[in-house]
Amino acid sequence: MNILVLGGGGREHALAWAIKQNPKCDRLIVAPGNAGIAAIAECARLNPEDGAEVVTFCEENAVDFVVIGPEAPLAAGVADALRDAGILCFGPSAAAAQLESSKRFTKEICDAAQAPTAGWARFSDVEAAKAYVRTQGAPIVVKADGLAAGKGVIVAMTLDEALAGLDEIFGGAFGAAGAEVVIEEFMSGEEASFFVLVDGETVLPIGTAQDHKRVGDGDTGPNTGGMGAYSPAPVLTDAIAEQALERIIRPTMVEMARRGTPYQGVLYAGLMIENGVARLVEYNVRFGDPECQVLMLRLGAQALDLLLACAEGRLEEARVNWADDHALTVVMAAKGYPGTYAKGTPIKGLEALPEDSFNMVYHAGTKADGAAILSNGGRVLNVTARGATLAEAHQRAYAMVDRIDWPEGFCRRDIGWRAL
Ligand code: AMP
Ligand code: GLY
Repeated sequence: MNILVLGGGGREHALAWAIKQNPKCDRLIVAPGNAGIAAIAECARLNPEDGAEVVTFCEENAVDFVVIGPEAPLAAGVADALRDAGILCFGPSAAAAQLESSKRFTKEICDAAQAPTAGWARFSDVEAAKAYVRTQGAPIVVKADGLAAGKGVIVAMTLDEALAGLDEIFGGAFGAAGAEVVIEEFMSGEEASFFVLVDGETVLPIGTAQDHKRVGDGDTGPNTGGMGAYSPAPVLTDAIAEQALERIIRPTMVEMARRGTPYQGVLYAGLMIENGVARLVEYNVRFGDPECQVLMLRLGAQALDLLLACAEGRLEEARVNWADDHALTVVMAAKGYPGTYAKGTPIKGLEALPEDSFNMVYHAGTKADGAAILSNGGRVLNVTARGATLAEAHQRAYAMVDRIDWPEGFCRRDIGWRAL
């Protein structure tokens, strides 16, 4: 079959890598792709957020199946446009994608489903919001309602930080996404990510992971899109996973179906775990980036069968073939990230690295210049390895990192510390 993947980051490189290994895949196209993806798939120039353009491209190229990587095309209704045109697609409708695109929507669904999550209130007026924050006190969490590229959340440890956050959001720092705020109770505990596929009805777990959001070793410095991840996450024990399925994820999915907007695609539940109890921090309606990279290295070719079963409503008959393994990915970023950084700096040594089912460097923000590979973003490479133990995966990943010659790049040296 002919398969189109929408997106061009490390997540999409990992998806394309796994899909490509499955003999069901004849032709693989990624739009827009990147320099690493170009080595295994055709890259197409196409606006991934324009449903009509994506449908036309699929018709002209006889695309049988579309996998949508990032949240923006989902929130823009690209999955709806594809399904309306009769094209098989992996990813939720715009209505169901509100589980990520609106914090308030998710809170209302959780309340209706009685899913454990932080207490909350919503405001569209800055003074009312400030008055509420003053009565609640710190620590407290202030969130812009809409999509803000992961930047619209302020975990305020003091009252002043919370008030400044409200000024920032209502002052327009996040545009329309900040017209409304959700204010939440602060939850302490350990965070982990739980990934399930949902075909509208059946929920199939496909793995757990833990991300590292802060830029610096020891979880210091500003927040980023994620500096590294590993899978599985030991804090998400079988018992906690079962609890999250029963109390949080399945009730949410039942409520979505009851409202006439059943969920189809991958659901990424960010959980806060404390004293044996899991509470929902957030849902995302896509794979995590870089969490997808460790999940794909572990799942390999079967990932395509699972994505197809999900899109075709056959998850009830699908099984995950689990290996007793571990994977870890180290993000190499451009110096200065998540602040300002240079693009176009040369990266050497990649061609000498192993590329097999234990070792893979997925490209996030790269571009090719003849035979040279140049940086083309903040998060640039995802150096990923698998092993029988997490320590083995860690050792393999950092052995590759140390062979990459990129003076303008950096990475955290402690990915996996909580579990190691
Ligand atoms: P979100 O975009 O909602 O996932 O928030 C981003 C990050 O902020 C999460 O991954 C958590 O680390 C943190 N966070 C969000 N909500 C809360 C909360 N209610 N309590 C504590 N930390 C939170
Ligand atoms: N790594 C966090 C995310 O993809 O949202």
